[in-house]
Amino acid sequence: MKPESYIDQVIDIATEAGKKIRDIYQLGDFEREIKSDNTPVTSADIAAHNIIINALKELTPEIPVLSEEDADIAFSERCNWQRYWLVDPLDGTGEFIAGSGDFSVIIALVEHNRPIVGVVYVPMTEVCYYAIAGLGAYKRANGNEVRISSRQIGHDDDSPLRLAVSRRQDPQSVIKLFNQNKHCELVVLGGAALKSCLVAEGRADSYVRIGPTGEWDTGAAQIIVEEAGGQIMDLTLQPLSYNERESLENPNFIVVGSPNLAWDEILIAES
Ligand code: IPD
Ligand code: CA
Ligand code: CA
Ligand code: CA
Repeated sequence: MKPESYIDQVIDIATEAGKKIRDIYQLGDFEREIKSDNTPVTSADIAAHNIIINALKELTPEIPVLSEEDADIAFSERCNWQRYWLVDPLDGTGEFIAGSGDFSVIIALVEHNRPIVGVVYVPMTEVCYYAIAGLGAYKRANGNEVRISSRQIGHDDDSPLRLAVSRRQDPQSVIKLFNQNKHCELVVLGGAALKSCLVAEGRADSYVRIGPTGEWDTGAAQIIVEEAGGQIMDLTLQPLSYNERESLENPNFIVVGSPNLAWDEILIAES
């Protein structure tokens, strides 16, 4: 089955999960707890997880699903997967709890360790970003669909570099990574996927995440950014890895950026 034949169904699944998250968010009545990795999870994360898992199992019973909220699957089992759904039911749990509205639902399909389909649905704006390998990246909003692309930056381009940062992030911790001769502007939005999509649609030039990132955080963004002509890599400027022992033991730190961004000149690599 070709991805383009079921992309609308995958978007519908993300939309249904997103509606559930929005309902819970608007009611403001949710439970929260701290997971063993010291990060928060809410009843909205779990409700979205259940909707997506059940719907994907019905859509493609033969394809295994890996979700952030059920990721404890032994490498010896998953290393044999040729294809799998990679899900983050709610990206931006911290934003959800803080009430900023900046969160999204992520579904990706990984084939031979590379994401080939990516969907990022934004419950509060009802915007959907999606991409299919070789077929481009798109944004659906208000019943319209447009193809998106990252901003091209020329070598002599002296326009400000627009950096995507979270509301809860110290902007200086990001700005200090960039060459101080470059003027930086901030574009503030929450969640790893949303910031990556900002780069994909040319509203930001870069997003840098200093800290461990799960493969569910980047799976959909990977293909959306790439199909939009942008770049998404680890901090050593190597490709992100999926379903490899290395990335499970040492989660990627990530940089996302416009094409032609001269990383080696502007990024002060962290050790
Ligand atoms: C997190 C968010 C956050 C990013 C973290 C992610 P979660 O995902 O995307 O913005 O900085 O790296 O883990 O836990 O809210 O799904
Ligand atoms: Ca989480
Ligand atoms: Ca996430
Ligand atoms: Ca999550």
